[in-house]
Amino acid sequence: LFHSVQLAPKDPIFGLTEAYVADQRADKVNLGVGVYYTDEGKIPLLQAVIKAEEALVAKHAPRGYIPMEGPSQYNLAVQTLLFGNDSSLIKDGRVVTAECIGGTGALRVGADFIKRLNLNAPAAISNPTWENHRGIFEAAGFDVVEYSYFDSKTRGVDFDGMVKSLESFPKNTTVVLHACCHNPTGADMTEAQWRQVIDICKSKELIPFLDMAYQGFADGIEQDGVAVRLFAQSGLSFFVSSSFSKSFSLYGERVGALSIVTESKDESARVMSQLKRVIRTNYSNPPTHGGAIATAVLTSPELRQLWEDELAQMRERIKSMREALVSKLAAAGAKQDFEFINAQRGMFSYSGLTPEQVERLQKEDGIYALSTGRICVAALNTKNIDKVATAIARVIA
Ligand code: LMR
Repeated sequence: LFHSVQLAPKDPIFGLTEAYVADQRADKVNLGVGVYYTDEGKIPLLQAVIKAEEALVAKHAPRGYIPMEGPSQYNLAVQTLLFGNDSSLIKDGRVVTAECIGGTGALRVGADFIKRLNLNAPAAISNPTWENHRGIFEAAGFDVVEYSYFDSKTRGVDFDGMVKSLESFPKNTTVVLHACCHNPTGADMTEAQWRQVIDICKSKELIPFLDMAYQGFADGIEQDGVAVRLFAQSGLSFFVSSSFSKSFSLYGERVGALSIVTESKDESARVMSQLKRVIRTNYSNPPTHGGAIATAVLTSPELRQLWEDELAQMRERIKSMREALVSKLAAAGAKQDFEFINAQRGMFSYSGLTPEQVERLQKEDGIYALSTGRICVAALNTKNIDKVATAIARVIA
């Protein structure tokens, strides 16, 4: 039966983590996967999460099935975070939200849902993008095309290129957009550019699908929500996948959500009924624990404040690591100007390292990065940064 099964290539992100785990060197550093670590090199368990979890455990609640779309309290909390307390879309019943298995699950449920609309149009992803975007949409049966996004000379958004690409796409193309902290480049659009993208989505009748995995990691929860809010004002129907993996440091709980903005309450009811079918045939209903923690934190003023403070600390630590990396690279004799690292937003730096340089870092120093040159700045700390800066300076010399 399995004679012809080929060995699949390793996942570019989790496959690298496997290699890192197998590495015996004590001072190895994993800058591959997008995970925030503390200065002690640990994945934090947030105080807000601990408090919510303790209260939850004390309840000894039974673990019955929850609704296919997840609990309504969770879904409302997600909507409020994305669209704001006073959102007229929420009031008018124009947002359909389903708890999903992480951001990945939300993207897949959304992709499956759109595929069932039989629109016969491709999905478009940014060039470059998160490695899994292509896989998810292809697995859902889409032809996947790319739109220009990054200008490697300016290390910013190639907006003219992006506009040209978007304008060339057929009607009903699903356009996957990074709502903030573009993964992998850290290059985000300005508000004015977002407005232009919205105009194009309108005139060309494209389907916007915002992927929001890093809310709170650039400038703040509200500030990072600008793109979603602009779309919300646009009158368009659109999709948002969101995740609490990073912002709550709940990676393994797989807590995410898919939100769909429709034209009316009536449309919402019909969309939700179809969404449930997609979920039912994928995994029936989401697990209880992670979503319950997120709900408890988001709906308690005290825990919410605690969470916001902790999220701000993560954000600030990443910024300080960016600054430290830039100055330590210069101190280590790097000829190149790395100031761009400070301008990049979110967890990553698209460092410009070549695949060969990345390979040398792994072989010679036990420093793991993606072959595209993406490094996770959130994995740097005061103990490993000297080693990393010295090694990078050496391999680029
Ligand atoms: C990443 O980009 O490294 C993270 O989003 C983890 C993942 O699922 O790939």
